[in-house]
Amino acid sequence: MKSILENRPELARQVAEVAEVAGYLWQKGWAERNGGNITVNVTAHIDDAVRALPAISEVRLIGTVLPHLKGCYFFCKGTNRRMRDLARRPMENGAVIRILDDCASYEIVADNPVPPTSELPAHLSMHDKMIADGKGYTAALHTHPIELVALSHNPAFLEKDVLTNLLWSMIPETRAFCPKGLGIVRYEMPSTLQLAQATIRELADYDVVMWEKHGVCAVGPDIMEAFDFVDVLSKSAQIYLTARSMGFEPEGMSRRQMDELKEAFNL
Ligand code: 13P
Ligand code: ZN
Repeated sequence: MKSILENRPELARQVAEVAEVAGYLWQKGWAERNGGNITVNVTAHIDDAVRALPAISEVRLIGTVLPHLKGCYFFCKGTNRRMRDLARRPMENGAVIRILDDCASYEIVADNPVPPTSELPAHLSMHDKMIADGKGYTAALHTHPIELVALSHNPAFLEKDVLTNLLWSMIPETRAFCPKGLGIVRYEMPSTLQLAQATIRELADYDVVMWEKHGVCAVGPDIMEAFDFVDVLSKSAQIYLTARSMGFEPEGMSRRQMDELKEAFNL
């Protein structure tokens, strides 16, 4: 069977980047079993031949109406598929879907009829918002980073911007490379529309949001940058917990030191 990636180098590059990040998620220990999901808006790399491809699945409802997604194409991790398998064989563990003209349903077009992630309502809602924002963001990532999830079990850390300020103060790079900080979504049942809606409310102010006692979601210009946002926050969480496990509360950078960074990096 001919893959949709054949003779489409830019589309192939996007999928290769997803596979690379999937490997990092597994190596980091953030992707037990099928944990986490990735979707990338690949519409810019789709040609008329792909637009003419017949569906290889039935039409399925998204569960919500997303007006900016009409005619868009996404590469999606498959539900119940492992990140470590996506890393090695992306087109067997993910698929390209097409959003139909009603903006409320989709069909799979290539390569295999792999049903997309159960978090599709959240992912597509994030993509709809990214298009509306017009910043050129194309990637959405959900993953289960151990230390960040652990911190979300303390109610004190779930108050607005408490974790953001704590994580920023652990190392200058986090302030510089995750300048909007970490939004908080209170516990919701995985895969639900409520979780999707709460997520996009927080994305108005943040590029990364915590799903309480579950994981984080990040958006970015591409999947590598979405991963980087989570990676710098996770580094800070590890520094905090390492200090705590050595028996002391880390001092953290001072307000003044963080304000200096803000100026120097134009944040
Ligand atoms: P999927 O296997 O459906 O992508 O779900 C994994 C997950 O992390 C749900 O929150
Ligand atoms: Zn999850």
